[in-house]
Amino acid sequence: MQIDPPLTAPFENVVRERRSVHRFEPGQRISKAQWRKLFELSALSPSSWNFQPWDFVVVEDDDRRRELRPLCWNQSQIVDSAAVIAVIGDKNPHRRDEEIFAQFLENGYIDDATLQAYRGAVDVVYHDDARRIEHAVGGACLAAMTLMLTAQAMGLGTLPIIGFDPSGVRKFFNVTGDYMVAMLIAIGPAKGGELPRQQRRPFEDIVHWDRFGNL
Ligand SMILES: Cc1cc2nc3c(=O)[nH]c(=O)nc-3n(C[C@H](O)[C@H](O)[C@H](O)COP(=O)(O)O)c2cc1C
Repeated sequence: MQIDPPLTAPFENVVRERRSVHRFEPGQRISKAQWRKLFELSALSPSSWNFQPWDFVVVEDDDRRRELRPLCWNQSQIVDSAAVIAVIGDKNPHRRDEEIFAQFLENGYIDDATLQAYRGAVDVVYHDDARRIEHAVGGACLAAMTLMLTAQAMGLGTLPIIGFDPSGVRKFFNVTGDYMVAMLIAIGPAKGGELPRQQRRPFEDIVHWDRFGNL
């Protein structure tokens, strides 16, 4: 699938130039075509069993965002960006399991015996609340990362935000039941002038061979 016009920015530049943007151009909006591309590409992220445990709530309205700001440690990017996206994780994404497993069967990924095994495995994984949270947050965060890189390739800046009052933000977005707010993302054209990137832990420190640990 190709979504026209294709993004052509060199991949390495996209990764190297993505920053957490703290200064947005005021008064900007994102076009309908940009929104569509952002979310269509984000939806191509991988997920366990292809359950796609993500939803997105977009808030552009200035009054709504002024109301949201105090729930987010008063961070100015909530109102200065073009929009704020709540990335929602689903602790119960197997609500769609039969539909998705039918596709696995139809497309020749699995046979009937494997289907039974999948059903059993789903019951094990989604029985345990800690694992349900891991899958919800992990899956939603993969989609969030795709979204931030896609935005960068489109010339838009992003700021991932976890600095917020979880129950207040949950209420603000009307998130209930098995859904959780994995993070917020402020998005819009960046103004520039960010501070230099902070250092990263070096290759030797983060990469372990054969087993974990540097002892
Ligand atoms: C899940 C997550 C939550 C974050 N929350 C905030 C936040 O609330 N406020 C903020 O200013 N930056 C936030 N950041 C941005 C980090 O501080 C930033 O990614 C890090 O310092 C590295 O900088 P860089 O993204 O420019 O490379 C968050 C980043 C992530 C991944």
